[in-house]
Amino acid sequence: MNFQLTEEHLMIRQAARDFAQELWKDVCERDEKGKFPTEHIKKMGELGFMGMMVDPKYGGSGLDTISYVLAMEEISKVDASCSVIMSVNNSLVCWGLETFGNEEQKQKYLTKLATGEMIGAFLLSEPEAGSDATSQRTTAEDKGDYYLLNGTKNWITNGNSAGVYLVIAQTDIEKAHRGINAFIVEKNSPGVIVGKKEDKMGIRSSDTHSIMFQDVKVPKANRIGEDGFGFKFAMKTLDGGRIGIASQALGIASGAYELALKYSKERKAFGKEISKHQAIQFKLADMATRIEAARLLCLKAAFLKDQHGDYGLASAMAKVFASETAMWVTTEAVQVHGGYGYVREYHVERMMRDAKITQIYEGTSEVQRIVISRSILS
Ligand code: CAA
Repeated sequence: MNFQLTEEHLMIRQAARDFAQELWKDVCERDEKGKFPTEHIKKMGELGFMGMMVDPKYGGSGLDTISYVLAMEEISKVDASCSVIMSVNNSLVCWGLETFGNEEQKQKYLTKLATGEMIGAFLLSEPEAGSDATSQRTTAEDKGDYYLLNGTKNWITNGNSAGVYLVIAQTDIEKAHRGINAFIVEKNSPGVIVGKKEDKMGIRSSDTHSIMFQDVKVPKANRIGEDGFGFKFAMKTLDGGRIGIASQALGIASGAYELALKYSKERKAFGKEISKHQAIQFKLADMATRIEAARLLCLKAAFLKDQHGDYGLASAMAKVFASETAMWVTTEAVQVHGGYGYVREYHVERMMRDAKITQIYEGTSEVQRIVISRSILS
């Protein structure tokens, strides 16, 4: 086993760390106003963070998943809204298209998505199909040379800012999950309606919308893979997506921990810095230990993916552990800050709000436990 990062990994982590410093300046304002980080995302595209693992021939950075985990952690330390936009684009949209799309689809869409010229969204969840992803109500009726798409998708990250959607829909209800397909749908297609923006607890600067489809004509050429491949497409893509969200959770936890550590060395109580009190030292020790364990799980899942091994179990373990770590560490970071932790300018309350979503999206903690238990019992 080699726990050493390469020179290239260290360079990428530093580049992400340097870029993330720019996010501090307006992160609170964007959180408060729910303002999309347009300029930051543009810069992330220029720096190669929007298509990190995509082959350079399609405009990507051609890096491995370990580099992606490192960059995700650094950006999430400061701003989990920017990092979820990045994660959805990289590991759901770009990876799904590059792995399962055909050459024509890659030339037409991936080249723009990988450079950040356009961002994408992944449309699986529905009002009545969240964890139970096989119960898709959105239908795509085969009309010969096109499909007619009808239905509603919920809680879609990048819902309004995306130019292109990867949509999962039912084409043959009789065949249950084997009758599900995945489609590339351009946002400006007639019949696509962007619903209201959700007023969220956390990751407020990312845009989350419901999306309605009313008789949207999707060309046959926009179906991804063989007929009936859509559910497996979604599951396989989410296996990798969970590495992205686990890394986001890891970053939120390490960001809050770093602020708590710094604060504990500055704040005095009972005649000395609070870091000199054992009550605080024990909290910091537990935070650091859990974060390191989460980091190792994320890197292991990334390593397996890069080795083309089976990484579904590792990514579920990384996600459930890192997201629970994020929730626990951010709550403790607020506690270390005392009353200051409860006000906006100290950032940790935002991080605590942001942490919660990592236990919900791309498969709740309960879904991860289903995946893990099925794997260990099989
Ligand atoms: N890879 C490949 N195939 C898989 C798979 C995987 N990881 N998981 C399941 N499958 C296959 C199975 O082999 C099976 O195929 P066969 O019938 O051919 O054997 C088929 O898919 C059905 O599998 P299950 O019977 O296991 O399906 P299930 O109904 O029991 O569901 C589940 C399993 C794990 C709960 C799944 O529904 C799931 O992951 N749900 C959560 C969905 C989710 O993560 N949603 C997030 C939305 S996206 C998002 O949040 C993005 C964002 O905006 C941030």
